[in-house]
Amino acid sequence: MNDREDVLILAIESSCDETAAAVVKNGREVLSNVISSQIDLHTLYGGVVPEIASRKHIEKINQVIEEALSQAGVTLEEITAIGVTYGPGLVGALLVGVAEAKAIAYAAGKPLVGVHHIEGHVSANFIEHPDLEPPFVCLIVSGGHTHLVIVKDYGEFEIIGRTRDDAAGEAFDKVARAVGLGYPGGPKVDKTAKEGNKHAVEFPRAKVEGAPYDFSFSGLKSAVLNYINHAKMTGQEIHVPDLVASFQNAVVDALVSRTVAAAKEYGYDKVAIAGGVASNSALRAEMKKACRKAHLSFYHPSPIFCTDNAAMIGVAAYYEYQKGARAGWDLNAVPNLKLGER
Ligand code: KG4
Ligand code: ZN
Repeated sequence: MNDREDVLILAIESSCDETAAAVVKNGREVLSNVISSQIDLHTLYGGVVPEIASRKHIEKINQVIEEALSQAGVTLEEITAIGVTYGPGLVGALLVGVAEAKAIAYAAGKPLVGVHHIEGHVSANFIEHPDLEPPFVCLIVSGGHTHLVIVKDYGEFEIIGRTRDDAAGEAFDKVARAVGLGYPGGPKVDKTAKEGNKHAVEFPRAKVEGAPYDFSFSGLKSAVLNYINHAKMTGQEIHVPDLVASFQNAVVDALVSRTVAAAKEYGYDKVAIAGGVASNSALRAEMKKACRKAHLSFYHPSPIFCTDNAAMIGVAAYYEYQKGARAGWDLNAVPNLKLGER
């Protein structure tokens, strides 16, 4: 049971390959967080197949929502508002969540709040850190995004750096595929790198001329591919753990150095990380070390709240709801929604 003043958000997330629903109380307390992953299905194809993702979302979504309500011990009547990811992501996948959220909100007479998926990732930091409030610097690293931002207020971002080519997660996935680790690449590289020497191969650290906080990972990816090709042509054996540890070290270096430099230059003493790649063990360890050295407080969500989930969408929806944001029945999926756009 909940008090009348409590704000309970039922959140829905279906932007990529996880069908997820959660109930979040007063923006920070996760009452349930149900995730139905399609990873096994997409592994067969080496990546997410959009058409399969949409179909699977349709099959799973009602069950996932029912479970989220039941695990939270609340009824739909007790829910204050419905929050849903409406972009960015795969259009067909997003549409499943958006249509479902609209139907539930309409039938139950509840307000609807559209949530930006990346705002959700950033908001994951609020779940386990009750003391964390804006402003702070946040590094957002997911499968499709690499952004360095200042979180000025809840849902308000100033972008100070971004990738010029591949997203960090994309680089992990491509390198994993090249060395035969398969999909999803990030977690497999993370695990394999633990057995390797991160200084075995010195890969280049690209800098973007005139943009100190921008990232570029395509050169690094090409360097890894060239290394593999060269080894194959000269008959040398590749030590996969050494290779991926060295690659991961180059990515982590680029991410950590820019994030800490930005916090210092812009004068913020709090640093957070968000997105699937934020669950990377080397990134977490190195960022922690560098922040301690620079006297910055470091925040990170637990791995389960880094990768796609609906709890983070519930948190973001709460702050949007409190600001008065309400979506109409014409809410649509926006696959290319930019950060800071509504
Ligand atoms: O945030 P997310 O779950 O979905 C998107 O919004 O894109 O991020 C998925 C990305 C994938 O590229 C995946 O390989 C990467 O996050 N990832 C990791 C790790 N876990 C997930 N990358 C490096 N290390 C990990 N442990
Ligand atoms: Zn995501």
